[in-house]
Amino acid sequence: MNVVSTREELAVARKELPGRVAVVMTMGALHDGHVELVRQARTQADSVVVTIFVNPLQFGANEDLSTYPRTLDQDLALLDGLADVVFTPTPEVVYPTEALVRVSAGALGTVFEGASRPGHFDGVLTVVLKLMHLTTPDVALFGQKDAQQLAAIRRMVSDLDVPVKVVAVPTVREPDGLAMSSRNRYLTDEQRSTALLLSKALRTRDVAAGRALFDSSSADLDYLERVDSSTFEVTPEGDLLIIAAKVGTTRLLDNLPLKDNS
Ligand code: PAF
Repeated sequence: MNVVSTREELAVARKELPGRVAVVMTMGALHDGHVELVRQARTQADSVVVTIFVNPLQFGANEDLSTYPRTLDQDLALLDGLADVVFTPTPEVVYPTEALVRVSAGALGTVFEGASRPGHFDGVLTVVLKLMHLTTPDVALFGQKDAQQLAAIRRMVSDLDVPVKVVAVPTVREPDGLAMSSRNRYLTDEQRSTALLLSKALRTRDVAAGRALFDSSSADLDYLERVDSSTFEVTPEGDLLIIAAKVGTTRLLDNLPLKDNS
């Protein structure tokens, strides 16, 4: 496994990769959900690049950029034998000049997660496009857990004619149903039990019944809605149930596809 951190090292490493190349983009603090993305990448391509970069552009002023878990040594140990190249740039490598020009997520960037985190999806799309340019993959894999991010990336790739195939990988869950997330490590034991309400609410497959579960709970439900998984418009025919709630100070997301995978 070749670990590189500059653009020049990446270009050399990328040239040496044989066959079709898949990329898995991450912010580190890797868990089994990421491992599944990398394993799936191996089934889609001959070579696998993983990027580890905590992207400042997608964090708001009062969010957890400075405290976001950074566990590079453990991440590299987890990827050993799974990835061919790991790109671990600093912010200065990714953004050598101020990111004046950015990708806009349009209407997808202003609803649900975009409403709670203004500018978040513009920051995500900007770094995803940059990392696609830097790693020049044939295929890029993203987790279904961040469904709005996935929809925005698919739309960017289509609207901007980016020659990369986007593949979604189903959410990996703990045995009790909690969707895996790097932010789960912020939860106390008690909060972790409360966090199970998200997957429980989804399993009701019903907006009203799911919302009712939060009535007498310490978790703060932000939204539970049935939406179209491409546009994130709320519709009774929607193919995706989405939920976000704050447990303590940690904002958690989850979703359940209602048609193809149900
Ligand atoms: O899903 C994430 O970890 C990030 O949003 C991504 C896609 C790596 C962009 O920074």
